[in-house]
Amino acid sequence: MSVPGTPERVLSGMRPTGRLHLGHYHGVLKNWVELQNEYESFFFVADWHALTTHYETRIDVSENVWEMVIDWLAAGVDPGRATLFIQSRIPEHAELNLLLSMITPLSWLERVPTYKDQQEKLNERDLSTHGFLGYPLLQSADILIYRASGVPVGEDQVPHVELTREIARRFNYLYGREPDYEERAEAAIVKMGKKAAKLYRKLRQAYTEQGDESSLDRARALLNDQQNITLGDKERLYGFLEGGGRIILPEPDALLTKASRLPGLDGQKMSKSYNNTILMRDDADRIESKLRSMPTDPARMRRTDPGDPEKCPVWSLHQIYTGSDVHDWVVAGCKSASIGCIDCKQPLIDEVLKEQRDIHQRAVPYTEDPTLVKKLIADGCERAQEVAEDTMDEVREVMGLNYS
Ligand code: TRP
Ligand code: SF4
Repeated sequence: MSVPGTPERVLSGMRPTGRLHLGHYHGVLKNWVELQNEYESFFFVADWHALTTHYETRIDVSENVWEMVIDWLAAGVDPGRATLFIQSRIPEHAELNLLLSMITPLSWLERVPTYKDQQEKLNERDLSTHGFLGYPLLQSADILIYRASGVPVGEDQVPHVELTREIARRFNYLYGREPDYEERAEAAIVKMGKKAAKLYRKLRQAYTEQGDESSLDRARALLNDQQNITLGDKERLYGFLEGGGRIILPEPDALLTKASRLPGLDGQKMSKSYNNTILMRDDADRIESKLRSMPTDPARMRRTDPGDPEKCPVWSLHQIYTGSDVHDWVVAGCKSASIGCIDCKQPLIDEVLKEQRDIHQRAVPYTEDPTLVKKLIADGCERAQEVAEDTMDEVREVMGLNYS
């Protein structure tokens, strides 16, 4: 759900893990590149989030951050379209995190599935910290401070967006009710003009009394079309529809990103911890040698032994990179041993290298002149901060903190 009258905005963050690999490219970044053309997009480096699990080791955040941003740009994320920034440069995130922590029941955080999972998985680290428990709340602050309507994330992050919705609802419930909000809503209805006011009342009644969802949708659409009332009044009437007050922090939706089907060099999921990656900016020789030494169906000990593509990780990569003609050729050639594995890998290598050339080319200006990256991030931070400040002004005000 978005604030009426504002364009749909998507926001997503990534922890600075250093250089990204083709799994990130196919799983996340290509999606961002599509989204930036359709929505107002905010993408940021979640550097504070990295500290929640790596607070002891003093990781080199800085190198990880800049290399990762270059990978985003190399993927085609366009700083002219999307706003790119770094979490820790917008201290308002921390302020909202703190204020939201006042209204967040501990039990909500304890029941987030990643909390227990990660504690068990990373059991060599001591994760019984306030910061780690608060990880998803910080994420909620990241999202709510930009009033994002959509949050592109993988499946594992959906519970965090769910929590964000609950926090927003609670916040709006607690602070969205002005003391005289019914009178204000009535006054706002009148400002829409006779016809629209009548329709709004009718639709609101149908929704609040009969729970008719389509009336709710129509009423929202009606509000969206109103040109002669202020944004504040729109928000008020939006909230009034559901019997609540003003919506200060809109509830975001998760935009589920399909899991990347791209397997690693050993056929498992591509991941740094499995040491089976091709980096987005590996050079051509390295990519070629990684692919050439990739294991194949173990049944093909000798060139003359037939194999089965279903038992071969190379075949999984063919699924992503080559077309059906090549697939037919692989299946027939592998099963009859009429082609060798080296032959089989060649069209795959060609396609991966083709993809790499574009990625490399887009990175060149930034690797040659790193100040470009710093500059575009500085610009992005400035834009992001303006939006964050607007939200915080309202949040401080409704929480009674805007006093002199
Ligand atoms: N937790 C996310 C991850 O690990 C990163 C993240 C932090 C994020 N803040 C966010 C993602 C806000 C989306 C929106 O992938
Ligand atoms: Fe794998 Fe291709 Fe070799 Fe068959 S021919 S085992 S599919 S690399």
